[in-house]
Amino acid sequence: MKYVIGNWKSNQNITESLIWLDGLSALRPRFSSDLAVILCLPFTDIAAFNHKLADLELPIITGSQNVSHMPPGKHTGEITANMLSELVSYCIVGHSERRQEFSETSDVVALKARYLLENSITPIVCIDLPYLDEQVKALFNLDIEVSRCFFVYEPISAIGTGKPVDPVDANHVAGQIAFLTDNQAPILYGGSVSQDNVASFVNQSKINGVLVGTDSLEPTLFAGIINSLS
Ligand code: PGA
Repeated sequence: MKYVIGNWKSNQNITESLIWLDGLSALRPRFSSDLAVILCLPFTDIAAFNHKLADLELPIITGSQNVSHMPPGKHTGEITANMLSELVSYCIVGHSERRQEFSETSDVVALKARYLLENSITPIVCIDLPYLDEQVKALFNLDIEVSRCFFVYEPISAIGTGKPVDPVDANHVAGQIAFLTDNQAPILYGGSVSQDNVASFVNQSKINGVLVGTDSLEPTLFAGIINSLS
C-alpha cells in the first residue's frame, strides 16, 4: 500500500474546505486501490468535511493535525483523542512546527500517540534526525505498539522551502527508522513534495508514501500528486 497524506496546517475555514472538496471532485483524480489518500484538517473543518465527503463518495480518509496529551477532564480548550474518535482515523503528532512553536517534547508526543491508539486512531509520528532515536525510545518507554503507528521523516530544511532532500538520502533515513521500529510500520517522507518529485520518493525501497503540506492546499496540485502515484 502507498500513502499520500495532506497537511493543511492552519489554513482553510469550513467554507474554504468545502470549496476545496468540490474542486478536487471536479478534477476526478484517479484513486487506485493500492493508494490511500488521507487529509489532515483543522479541527473546525472535520465534521462538515466528512459529511460532504460521504455525499461525494470520494475515497479520502480524514485526519487531524494534533490532539491533547491529556485524558478527558478539566482541561479547558483541549481536544482529546476520545473527542476525535468519532471524526478521524489518523492524527499527526510531533510535527516540527509544534516542537518549535509550542515546545512539544518527545515524551509529550508519545503520550499523544498512546491516547490516540487507545481510541483507535493511527498516530502519524513526524521525526527529524536530531531526535529520531529519542522519539522512538519515548514511544517504547510507554509500551506503544509501533506497528500501529505511521512514521514520517520530515527534515526541517525541506519543509515549506521548495527544496526537498535527495530521495536516496531520504531512503537512507527511512531505513534507519524501519530498523528502529522493527520494520513494522509504514514510513513516509515529507518536505516540499510536489507532483513532479513525488514518484522519486515513493519509488524508494523504504519509503511507503508522502506527507504534503503546501501542495495539498491547491486541488489541482493535490490531484496531480494522486495521479502521479495511481
Ligand atoms: P511542505 O510541508 O510540503 O509545505 O514542505 C510538509 C509538512 O510540513 O508536512
